[in-house]
Amino acid sequence: MTVDIDQTTELHVTRDGATMETEKKTQTTAEQMTDRDLSEQIKKVTMESHARAEKTELMLSFQRGQVTLAQYKLLLCSLYEVYQVLEEEMDRNSNHPGVAPIYFPAELARLDAIEKDLEHFYGQDWREKIVVPAATKRYCHRLRQIGKENPEFLVAHAYTRYLGDLSGGQVLGRIAQKSMGLKGSEGLSFFAFPGVSSPNLFKQLYRSRMNSVELTEEERNGVLEEAVRAFELNIQVFDDLQKMLLSFSDNKLQTCSTQSRPVKTLQIPGAIINTTPLLRMVLGLFVALATVSVGIYVF
Ligand code: HEM
Repeated sequence: MTVDIDQTTELHVTRDGATMETEKKTQTTAEQMTDRDLSEQIKKVTMESHARAEKTELMLSFQRGQVTLAQYKLLLCSLYEVYQVLEEEMDRNSNHPGVAPIYFPAELARLDAIEKDLEHFYGQDWREKIVVPAATKRYCHRLRQIGKENPEFLVAHAYTRYLGDLSGGQVLGRIAQKSMGLKGSEGLSFFAFPGVSSPNLFKQLYRSRMNSVELTEEERNGVLEEAVRAFELNIQVFDDLQKMLLSFSDNKLQTCSTQSRPVKTLQIPGAIINTTPLLRMVLGLFVALATVSVGIYVF
């Protein structure tokens, strides 16, 4: 595949790897970036947030090589919800002038990969076992809102997730594999980008596409603010996931065990849980019986 970077440079992103010649040209493009470039501004304004994200308990577990299967499975559930909405909104707004230049579904889309990983860990009925905290729902709500009201802000969210996945995410994948003792790449599709032969070159292309988006001053400030918010939303998800893990004991959270079994009753403040239809029916019967009993007692 060949994609234009700017009028003078072309970047060849191939599955076989990019040539030295191409890399030299792209480096020149990267050096030409200025303080007015969105990619530079966004990196600057989110630097402090990035440092905070790295220091969340969940990310520290990754960095220490101590990430557990329970942590990773729970993280995958939230990533599933987030990427589902992010990619839906990107698809819906793919012709918007603020989205079109940074729309790379073939190279970046994560949803299919996450679904594959979820099926690996939870089994075929993984959809019924998705467990996410309230922070994930807030993140999704924000994505839907800007997809509808300010599609030009989507670049902030796409940058935060995709460039993060293409940066530290690559190392994290290898660490996760070792920490959880996984064989091969099973369950780790999320970290693999088969459509991107060189993450570094691709990031350069992505940055130059970000810089080509035409924004008014007001819109630019909005995008920068949104990028800080995107990091904040991620941090809140990581913190909530960690709290969920702490409040779950093995017998409370069946979905976090290595075997995939139906979800049991969960009582975690702020957590949104998909219960099984059977559980919902039993709860409904219980409420109905209680209501009838109270009625009999009163009369
Ligand atoms: C264990 C945690 C993490 C580590 C070790 C890590 C590490 C890194 C590294 C080494 C880079 C490359 C920096 C560069 O090229 O100058 C990077 C870039 C990036 N990371 Fe992270 N990261 C972590 C977590 C996160 C999280 C949680 C997010 C977002 C939610 C994130 C978003 C980004 C983004 C957007 C970039 C691209 C910056 C740019 O080039 O503009 N990272 N990260």
